[in-house]
Amino acid sequence: MRISVEVGDIARWEDEVIVVNLFEGVAHPGGATGAVDAAMGRQITAMIETGDVSGGFKDVTVFPTFDHIPANRVMVVGLGRREDFSLDRVREVSACAAIRVRERGLKTFSTIVHGAGVGRLELEDTAEALVEGVLLGVYRYVEHKTEPAANRVDAMTIVTLEKARASTIRDAVQRGSVVSTSVNFARDLINAPSNAKTPVLFTEKVRTAAREAGLKLTVYDEKQLERMGFGALLGVARGSEEPPRFLVLEHAGGGKAKPIVLAGKGITFDSGGIALKPLEAPGTDPMWIMRYDMSGAAVALSAVLAAARLKLPVNVVALAPLTENMPSGRAQKPGDIVRTFGGQTVEVLNPDAEGRLVLADALGYAKTLKPSAVVDVATLTGAAKVALGRMGCALFCNDGTLRDRIARASEATAERVWELPLWDDYNEQIRSDFADVKNTGGRSAGAITAAKFLQRFVGDHPWAHLDIAGPAWIEAAPDSPKREYLPKGASAFGVRLLVRLMRDWKRSG
Ligand code: BES
Ligand code: MN
Ligand code: ZN
Repeated sequence: MRISVEVGDIARWEDEVIVVNLFEGVAHPGGATGAVDAAMGRQITAMIETGDVSGGFKDVTVFPTFDHIPANRVMVVGLGRREDFSLDRVREVSACAAIRVRERGLKTFSTIVHGAGVGRLELEDTAEALVEGVLLGVYRYVEHKTEPAANRVDAMTIVTLEKARASTIRDAVQRGSVVSTSVNFARDLINAPSNAKTPVLFTEKVRTAAREAGLKLTVYDEKQLERMGFGALLGVARGSEEPPRFLVLEHAGGGKAKPIVLAGKGITFDSGGIALKPLEAPGTDPMWIMRYDMSGAAVALSAVLAAARLKLPVNVVALAPLTENMPSGRAQKPGDIVRTFGGQTVEVLNPDAEGRLVLADALGYAKTLKPSAVVDVATLTGAAKVALGRMGCALFCNDGTLRDRIARASEATAERVWELPLWDDYNEQIRSDFADVKNTGGRSAGAITAAKFLQRFVGDHPWAHLDIAGPAWIEAAPDSPKREYLPKGASAFGVRLLVRLMRDWKRSG
């Protein structure tokens, strides 16, 4: 979608539809909405009186202008109660407006920036939220549709009355577009069927993106991984015909500073391996959803792509261990013992607890980069999803400063995190009789014992683990958050949070 910023009066603006807004309870609209109302002979006021326009959150009214003003139609979007207003509501109403424009088969629309100056909201943030809401909201995964989608919005014009505001808005559009494009890149990877994103095919998609962003990408194949000692990743990969890969994507914007490392679980299909998951069973996700088990990798890589496109002044490295988890005559078996990157041995009691295995190698490798902090992202446990549903992710963190940074990034992006403990007592559950540690801790505290397992491979640096098993996938069901900018399927939860974390890295801390 083309997005442009123009200086002008929305009431005199020509387009298929112009979008203005209304808070709940307002009888006489002011500002841009008031100007359109006046130009339309107070028709909006009249419709408020008759109850045809309410201002209720996401309440949308569209009416023709009958040549009273240059635009063909006016859309009034409800902002809800002033005291409930937030940046996330800007994302939502913006997504809502764009989707309604599309539903009507219209190709272009013009809008004002919703909510700048309301409460403590800054124009630069509301304009960015507007762009995010629109681009994330109209996203669809159409890669494998042979017929192109009939309705498609081609262009949005953001109209501002004050010339002084245009450059602020243009910068915000740039940032919002980069972040949203990066989120949607991750969504494309996550929504892709597993036959279109084997570790080798996944790598090629990332290679193309890295080249365009001018980033250094290092790809390790199975021979190199063997030499480097990635025994846990290779153990998971044994059951698959598809060779594994390990990706290292680097953005160097921070001079000599130690890098932030983002490690993402990259299981391009999790069948469960020898511990084969059911195709479908009551109360569980159907097996095909396990294409999303590379969400962590897609999110970490996309966050680094965004960091590069935004020229953030940080050094950041994404690590992505990629493999399928499949059953076969060569697959790893319950009780097998593997040697991880750093030398620790793991007893693989459940081949379906494969995410923590590939991350053990990645976290061990991260240590060699002398990181300032490591954040791993993974669709790691069904238990995290049982605990929080799809409304937010589980956070584990060994460092107060990093925890605060993540909390602030979460607040700014409305990607919610909720902390679970890393008490050492949980280590009892993953003690192994035959190796240094075992890869399952039983059903009790399943998300936590997975995190405790990971912690064994973390060095002496701040570390956070985001278990995104719940929020990484959105469904039309009560356990999914209803957000206009979260269409069904991959959410790419974590990209916006991580980008925000990196953006504020030098300022906060
Ligand atoms: N990818 C799954 C986690 C998962 C399971 C996400 C269900 C969403 C829904 C992971 O590899 C897995 O299979 N975890 C097991 C661990 C268990 C065997 C210790 C799980 O959570 O059931
Ligand atoms: Mn699994
Ligand atoms: Zn998995």
